[in-house]
Amino acid sequence: VDILIPPQDFEGKNILITAGPTVEAIDPVRFLSNHSTGKMGFAIAEAAKARGGNVTLVSGPTTLKPIEGVEIISINSALEMYESVMEHFDGQDIIIKSAAVSDYRPETTANNKIKKHDGPLQINLVRNPDILKELGAKKGNKKLIGFAAETDNVIEYAKAKIEKKNLDLIVANDLTEEGAGFGSDTNVVYLIDNKQQVTKVEKASKLEVAHRILDKIKEV
Ligand code: CTP
Ligand code: CA
Repeated sequence: VDILIPPQDFEGKNILITAGPTVEAIDPVRFLSNHSTGKMGFAIAEAAKARGGNVTLVSGPTTLKPIEGVEIISINSALEMYESVMEHFDGQDIIIKSAAVSDYRPETTANNKIKKHDGPLQINLVRNPDILKELGAKKGNKKLIGFAAETDNVIEYAKAKIEKKNLDLIVANDLTEEGAGFGSDTNVVYLIDNKQQVTKVEKASKLEVAHRILDKIKEV
């Protein structure tokens, strides 16, 4: 599609997108997180809005500009993202989970700053809910799109996630590929559909990649 004059092919579609990292507090000053900047998720929100979609964006902390006409719900932790996504689940046509959700959180968050002592510090981590997997279990006829960020066995691991989470499409990122991954303004992705068909999107701006993802979503 012409991304400067986008078609209105998502007109009337309710689209829920998640973006960015989650932040899991250890104490009032420290946290556990990851390198996600939210750029890919925001690019998808911008593209979907430009194509006529009614977009809700649930995002972890980012430094990105708001997108005109897109409702942004800011959250910090995976549990907050979970609650927000479940609250907005009804009425969506398409859900795209590009957020890098922390798989674990500290078992407890200290009320006061933890003081250092001699020797190692132990922090127990417990599992966060797998938001995408829960959505997959109750998705009905909504289209559900996941992401997979991998450093090795990219296609194989991504294919396994389609099955496990009942997805229509997965966008696999090879973090070792030049021009791909966290913080970059470009991306290189593999789009894998629920029939295990793989399409490579060569290096392009995240906005262009976003449009290619939307094109593929229409086919699945
Ligand atoms: N995801 C999620 N909730 C989590 C973890 C992941 O919704 N608690 C979603 C992500 O938003 C992404 C997809 O699941 O769309 C895959 O995330 P990824 O971290 O690649 O896969 P995991 O299933 O967490 O497996 P692993 O990290 O062990 O590779
Ligand atoms: Ca994970």
